[in-house]
Amino acid sequence: MNSGNTFRIGVLGSGRGSNFVAIADAIAAGAIPAQVALVLSDVEGAGILEHAQKRNLPARFVAPGKFRTKLDEDAERTFVEALQSAKVDLIVLAGFMRVLKGDFLRAFEGRIVNIHPSLLPSFPGLEAWKQALDHGVKVTGCTVHFVDAGVDSGAIIGQQTVPVLDDDTPETLHARIHAAEHELYPKCVATLARREIAVRGRRVVRKKS
Ligand code: GAR
Repeated sequence: MNSGNTFRIGVLGSGRGSNFVAIADAIAAGAIPAQVALVLSDVEGAGILEHAQKRNLPARFVAPGKFRTKLDEDAERTFVEALQSAKVDLIVLAGFMRVLKGDFLRAFEGRIVNIHPSLLPSFPGLEAWKQALDHGVKVTGCTVHFVDAGVDSGAIIGQQTVPVLDDDTPETLHARIHAAEHELYPKCVATLARREIAVRGRRVVRKKS
């Protein structure tokens, strides 16, 4: 862990990186007392890497290995070593589309967070906005949660609701959820960077000052 003063964030993403941009912008605006220490992607040329490079933040692609939904052993070791060398206090998953397993989780226990495009525990897994539309719910949203060994099952840090409209398509609903994510994720990361929250079993609560 980082022994200096600045709270150091490692960001993992596989896609276009709009949540990373929201967090990086919030840091630049002084709304999150932290710095991005490293951005890693399992996808070569991913938008998230380009956004990081444009901001002169350390960023690199790490080949994920032979599996489709998780990192292989070598890749996992490379991710863990890179994040440890960068002395990260928190790992922020921003559209990272692989499940993290044992050694990775043990190396950063209680220090990995994720954003998911539904109101968990409803609709874990892939294309959660489409699951919500298919199910016919009238309200969905997004959830920031700690990462544990399950799929989208860790303790919930924050949630934001989004209405489902009668004429929504998967694309329009996903866009509305994305916009909510860009508000919720920086707020949650700020509470973590300020060490304002405590975990009591499954409940994440504000520390009493
Ligand atoms: C976001 O909608 C995020 O909730 C989702 O991927 C998208 C990434 O967008 N993550 C998951 O579904 C994880 N299970 P971004 O690359 O523009 O931030």
